[in-house]
Amino acid sequence: MKSMNIVVLAGGTSTEREVSLITGKGVYEALKTKGHKVVLIDVYLGVEDVNVDKVFDDTRDWAAGIEAIAANEPDIEKFKALRKDGGKCFFGPNVIEICQKADVVFMGLHGANGEDGRIQATLDLYGIPYTGTDYISSAICMDKGITKKFFNMAGIPNAKGYDMNLDEEFKEIGYPVVVKVSTGGSSVGTYICKDRAEVDHALNEAKKFDDKVVVEEFIRGREFTCGVVDGKALPIVEIAPKVGFYDFANKYQAGQTNDICPAVLPEDKTLEIQRTAEEAYKVLKIKNYARIDFMMNEKGDIFCLEANTLPGMTPTSLLPMEAAAVGIDYPSLCEKLIEISLKRK
Ligand SMILES: Nc1ncnc2c1ncn2[C@@H]1O[C@H](COP(=O)(O)OP(=O)(O)O)[C@@H](O)[C@H]1O
Ligand SMILES: [Mg+2]
Repeated sequence: MKSMNIVVLAGGTSTEREVSLITGKGVYEALKTKGHKVVLIDVYLGVEDVNVDKVFDDTRDWAAGIEAIAANEPDIEKFKALRKDGGKCFFGPNVIEICQKADVVFMGLHGANGEDGRIQATLDLYGIPYTGTDYISSAICMDKGITKKFFNMAGIPNAKGYDMNLDEEFKEIGYPVVVKVSTGGSSVGTYICKDRAEVDHALNEAKKFDDKVVVEEFIRGREFTCGVVDGKALPIVEIAPKVGFYDFANKYQAGQTNDICPAVLPEDKTLEIQRTAEEAYKVLKIKNYARIDFMMNEKGDIFCLEANTLPGMTPTSLLPMEAAAVGIDYPSLCEKLIEISLKRK
């Protein structure tokens, strides 16, 4: 691949901003080892002291100061106050101007804003090429209720349940039941409830994040995830938290889960999950790449949970782990995601 000028966009204001910064740092460093000129920017904070015209010759360490992910969800309001201009425009100083100088923007964002399609639509209108899927599929996948409707229309197996506005009446479907904020991510706003009192608590907590939730049957069993790159499934990972479910702490603190790749499954189950992941990718109109989450109950039935259109891309994330299982190392995966995304533009 010829040397390119690349902006890695990370950070932002979602509950997953810290994860995104680690993704951004990993991708930034990997692409530099491949000989590209790379700039890493926090989409919300931007950069003030910069010569935009010469930004790709600016050899500062753009990842300086990015640290490990805290055990708890970040305090977004405190962070937002850091913007000197008050942050009325989501894009920080010089972000769009710098992106316009790039050959491609690598989307290292996760969660609201980065993953919900609005940034993709903005970049489209500015004529800036970027990695990952387009605005429409991003928006569909960001909303777990809408995703569920697409799954049901296309016969993609998923947990029995429904989506509800928080001002509507909760309908019992048995216990335990899972209540999930429709636009949540990284398990923030996911509640496993064993009775009505816990549901009421969850519905109350959910208000902090969104006005809609998905209510669904709790699937007891094993958890898997399967990346799809350019329409083709990668090997599956089994995620096995040592304690509890795959919540925020288990997702990002080292040593909290046993991730097994390729997952140990009978050949027919492996193929079933991979084909379902490819099918979900198609049904949700995803382009370039995504990672699809699954549960499997004790009988071996599979249930598609959701599609992650900007899955974690830290060097130890699940998608890089799956790519490594087929001989694609991390820097090559970062390049491959750029290549397929540019090919489609
Ligand atoms: N129906 C369900 N049954 C059992 N566990 C679930 C169910 N839905 C979600 N979970 C658990 O919650 C986690 C987060 O749910 P998910 O739908 O993948 O949302 P996100 O990853 O966007 O927060 C999953 O990784 C899984 O461990
Ligand atoms: Mg998930």
